[in-house]
Amino acid sequence: MSTNITWHEGTISRAERQKLLGQKGLTLWFTGLSASGKSTLASALEQHLLHHRVASYRLDGDNIRFGLNKNLGFSPQDRFENIRRIAEVAKLFADATFITLVSFISPYREDRDAARKLHEENGIPFVEIFVDAPLEILEQRDPKGLYKKAKAGEIKEFTGISAPYEAPTSPELHIRTDNLSIEDGVKLIVDYLVERGHCS
Ligand code: PPS
Repeated sequence: MSTNITWHEGTISRAERQKLLGQKGLTLWFTGLSASGKSTLASALEQHLLHHRVASYRLDGDNIRFGLNKNLGFSPQDRFENIRRIAEVAKLFADATFITLVSFISPYREDRDAARKLHEENGIPFVEIFVDAPLEILEQRDPKGLYKKAKAGEIKEFTGISAPYEAPTSPELHIRTDNLSIEDGVKLIVDYLVERGHCS
């Protein structure tokens, strides 16, 4: 626990930063089971946004576990800490005016709600995107062979098999990747952002 610390206010306000850079940040939070298409969708969206000169950056669960969160496993406590840290990082990126794409399984509703609360308390828009497909389809896709291993008992606490996934009850967007192409999924998100004035 840190003590004797003082918040240091910079000399540039968020509004001024946004005006200077011509962009407002927000966090797009992709949640869903392994192989649901979170990373693929986020990656395609990042490409689309950057090609339209919208500053955006993707924070991916697997990738962040190679560095910042390399000391965390998959117990409920470690997943809580994983989500807590990345929510803080996303908040900073969004404050820096980036459209921040977070793709983590983030299986617990309480943890996602805490990420939303952190953003909303700081005046940063938070958009929850439920990336969804039936478990049978995900088991067929199994691009990393993880479902097979989990079902054989070789991976413990595997989300959807031996650990829970609490589906969002009221996400801003619900994308079914079993009956929608990645391009259509990207379009759905872009339309949402444009309609709400988050980008043009
Ligand atoms: S979480 O639940 O949000 O903390 O998970 P996340 O940080 O997104 O990491 C998920 C990726 O880790 C791999 N993996 C597992 N996932 C779920 N359960 C267990 N036990 C597990 N072990 C390893 C897996 O590649 C996940 O990536 P995705 O892209 O979701 O398939």
